[in-house]
Amino acid sequence: MLVLGIETSCDETAAAVVGDAHPRIHANCVLSQLTEHARFGGVVPEIAARAHLEHLDGLIAEALAVAGIGFTDLDAVAATGGPGLIGGVIVGVMEAKAIALARGIPFIAVNHLEGHALTVRLTDDVEFPYLLLLISGGHCQLLVAEGVGRYRRLGTTIDDAAGEAFDKGAKLLGLGFPGGPAIERAASAGDAGRFPLPRPMKGRPGCDFSFSGLKTALRQAAEALGDGEGRLAPQDAADLAASLQAAIGDSLIDRTAQAIAAFQRSHPAGHTLVVAGGVAANAALRARLGALAAARGLRFVAPPIALCTDNGAMIAWAGLERLRLGIVDRLDFAPRPRWPLDPTAAPAAGAGVKA
Ligand code: KG4
Ligand code: ZN
Repeated sequence: MLVLGIETSCDETAAAVVGDAHPRIHANCVLSQLTEHARFGGVVPEIAARAHLEHLDGLIAEALAVAGIGFTDLDAVAATGGPGLIGGVIVGVMEAKAIALARGIPFIAVNHLEGHALTVRLTDDVEFPYLLLLISGGHCQLLVAEGVGRYRRLGTTIDDAAGEAFDKGAKLLGLGFPGGPAIERAASAGDAGRFPLPRPMKGRPGCDFSFSGLKTALRQAAEALGDGEGRLAPQDAADLAASLQAAIGDSLIDRTAQAIAAFQRSHPAGHTLVVAGGVAANAALRARLGALAAARGLRFVAPPIALCTDNGAMIAWAGLERLRLGIVDRLDFAPRPRWPLDPTAAPAAGAGVKA
């Protein structure tokens, strides 16, 4: 079985070919729009949509060439159907529908978050149920993955996502975009203990997150050190980056520890903690989550770094998992700017919730 996966929900244009026999990934082509957005310090939706439109055909051709196959060899085509920047999602969905119609093969609309959630089943032998910490630029959630299409949300952010905290922090410190890798690099030369930034939500009951206060505290600490024009000495920036990464990490660890306790009560058969999403590329965080899982008697699985940030392989794989269960979509599927993994979850207190 071979599935083409298309990802266009944010600032990566991606196409991949994935099969069910090992090795599963036949091609995984990602074109990052970094240079297009860098001068704005963030992703500009209209620019992203136009860039997807411009590059997607070529990227699909490249993926098929790398896989050594043609359109006739595909069993299905999957595209991110949401959540995400709607202009980009429309580009990917229309392309996938056109291929499905022309080739007479099934079209599968994949929830981008499910793509992240199932990546570990593409790369590792991971059985349901597992506890999932999904941390990306737009999302920060703790979920129990009970099966394909079956997720129970334990917690979410009441304001910013973890990736946003990294991105906004990096912007504030003048470290560039995207912020996660920039903060991680700067933090490696910094003193994490120098600035006592807050640990949002730490010690609170439940599993919800909050990061917006951290950003304010970082700004105040940076302003107290700057030269009045926002410039920071390299060591100060490194120490602030390290302090920010430690604070985000402490908050994520505390919330995940809460979720592990709930997971072990509700799903005694479950024995795996999984981290996914762009922020899961952070080495310090992976190490801390691994240690937490070990201390609680859980196996810890994180996707390879290249499959943490957005890619087409995760969409193709989620499509393949759905196809195996006979779950396919109609060609009148409407792209969804919002698409929660657990539609039954109550909104977190504090609103501003991303689902
Ligand atoms: O999953 P992703 O590629 O896109 C979304 O679905 O949002 O995640 C992107 C996010 C960005 O906020 C980026 O700064 C963050 O992942 N990120 C990292 C690292 N690499 C990417 N955050 C912390 N450390 C990293 N090494
Ligand atoms: Zn993502």
